Amino acid sequence: MYVEPADAPKRKPVTVPGLRAMKARREKIAMLTCYDASFAAQMEAAGIDVALVGDSLGMVVQGQASTLPVTLDQMVYHVSLVARGLATTLLIADLPFMQFRDPATALAAAMRLMAEGGAAMVKLEGGSDWTCEVIAALASRDVPVCAHLGLTPQSVHKLGGYRMQGKTEDAAARLRAEARAVAHAGAELLVLESVPAALAGDITRDLPIPTIGIGAGADCDGQVLVSYDMLGITPGRRPKFSKDFLEGRGSVREAFAAYAEDVRAGRFPGPEQIAA
Ligand code: KIV
Repeated sequence: MYVEPADAPKRKPVTVPGLRAMKARREKIAMLTCYDASFAAQMEAAGIDVALVGDSLGMVVQGQASTLPVTLDQMVYHVSLVARGLATTLLIADLPFMQFRDPATALAAAMRLMAEGGAAMVKLEGGSDWTCEVIAALASRDVPVCAHLGLTPQSVHKLGGYRMQGKTEDAAARLRAEARAVAHAGAELLVLESVPAALAGDITRDLPIPTIGIGAGADCDGQVLVSYDMLGITPGRRPKFSKDFLEGRGSVREAFAAYAEDVRAGRFPGPEQIAA
């Protein structure tokens, strides 16, 4: 259970409708991935708005080559750990590979992530017609949905690697159409990963729902990073669009707080944090 430090900032819980209100007020949303209760408590104390239990845990926690092997049981477990560390930060959980392949499977998986795990919203990758059907089925049962477009890591084999998406005119037009489609289907939030900054900016201005960028430039309504990347502890090379916020700071909490401040002030991402 979350134990509030004496010097913790007091704030109201971040809610799903609150995210749209933040977009309307042009307040940037600071989001990070999180996988356990101790990191969650640091994010809570640092004022991070949204914690995402991403299936990136397959890569950064489990050391797998992709996110595909992550199971629903593992996601439910990590979501329940993170929930214990949070009080006001909104908790989103990824639907793992193939756990949203049809509306019935997605509803059953979302039920576990929310009822057992404690998530307030589920995230799923893709914007095709069938994905929109799944989003509509979840939304109609009051399951808040975060869509995820651009570089969708569960499609790594089809994409041929972790590469920027939406670079050609056709690909950009497809992304714009998918962004409208997921919002129309009922998504409450949209992650845009590794897409050109100008395209992400256009989509952000076009949609009524907030966009959260990762490697998608500064014009999104918020930003997300993999927490291990922004603490400099992911083995191997850090993605070019990320930044080591622990460098020069004394604690993980200070690094999270600096990230939130930089996102809110529009200082992160800067021109040097571009997707490759
Ligand atoms: O799995 C994850 O951590 C994600 C973020 C990178 C957006 O989907």
